[in-house]
Amino acid sequence: MKKYLILQHPGHNRVYYNLSGQLALSELEIATRRLDADCSDSKIDELEKVRYLSFTTEEDITDHDLEILSRLSFVFAIFRLEQREDQTCLIPISKVDYEYVDNKVSSLMKYAGKTNELFTKMMINVGLLSSDFDYNHKIQLLDPVAGRGTTLFEGVVYGFDVTGIEIEPKSVHETTVFFKKYMEAERFKHTSGQRQVSGQKKSEAIYMQEFEYARTKEEFKSDQLRKKLGVVTGNSQEAANYFKKNSFHLIIGDLPYGIAHGNKGAAKSSSITRNPSELLSLCLPQWHQVLKKGGVVVVAWNSFVVSRQKLSEIFTDNGFEVFTEAPYDGFEHLVDRSIKRDIVVARKK
Ligand SMILES: C[S@@+](CC[C@H](N)C(=O)[O-])C[C@H]1O[C@@H](n2cnc3c(N)ncnc32)[C@H](O)[C@@H]1O
Repeated sequence: MKKYLILQHPGHNRVYYNLSGQLALSELEIATRRLDADCSDSKIDELEKVRYLSFTTEEDITDHDLEILSRLSFVFAIFRLEQREDQTCLIPISKVDYEYVDNKVSSLMKYAGKTNELFTKMMINVGLLSSDFDYNHKIQLLDPVAGRGTTLFEGVVYGFDVTGIEIEPKSVHETTVFFKKYMEAERFKHTSGQRQVSGQKKSEAIYMQEFEYARTKEEFKSDQLRKKLGVVTGNSQEAANYFKKNSFHLIIGDLPYGIAHGNKGAAKSSSITRNPSELLSLCLPQWHQVLKKGGVVVVAWNSFVVSRQKLSEIFTDNGFEVFTEAPYDGFEHLVDRSIKRDIVVARKK
């Protein structure tokens, strides 16, 4: 038997770190199902008063396993535990260097209502590891409630093609201005433009701000290696008018919380304060169309406002298969006095 210990990322937020042991364990358990090695006994462990996540395997983990483990949102360092005479030794294992764009891209912008980056990364991992796809596919990711782009930027770190829909033009503007500056500062080869994605008359036109980019000129020339980021200034309830059927492998989003974040512009918008179940009922038929078979939706919402049961029913009514068993029920956590956050994970059959 082999035992592995994972030191958890201290994160950017102490509150999130303290609460996130259980979330990390749930993410780890979902990941271990996709590993080559036969895993058992995943748990929160303690060694010399330091918290780790641990698991045991029959044989050594493979390179493929390390590809998955290195990407988990909470992973700071991975060790193999060895007992040498009367000493417990932690042997460090090199993580896989998987970032297409440096992870700072999703943490540079600071604003009220921003979704925690590590939590966002966790939603992407849980979605992908629960889908029929893996990190080697040319993943197309949609955030249908994109805000100022945390999910899009976490997807960019993975080298996915990412698309957002956001109803607030100001947020779309800030996201695209930031990304353009980032591309310039980091010397990525890129082009940007605007494309109409819906609307017959000029007054009904809906546009997507689009980027194509790559690390080098050579990569940019290749259709396989060139990456895309796009943001539609529009309403997620119209998603099927903006994109072709079966376009996306993943739909990942942090739904409006049913409370305002001290931002006057945002507080005025009725869509921000709308109950998440109402928004989902209107959006899911459209999201179902644009998601590929075997693709997965992960949404975070405020479970003080609507129950898990209610939200799961809306997914089931719209033809999705909801993951209800453990560890999928292990993600609920308190963010502040008015927000208890949870996620629902649902697959298109
Ligand atoms: C919780 S915020 C997402 C924050 C985002 N993850 C970030 O870190 O920037 C939810 C977003 O959904 C947007 N929204 C609400 N209703 C929408 C709709 N019908 N279509 C598109 N976006 C919508 C809001 O304007 C808000 O920006």
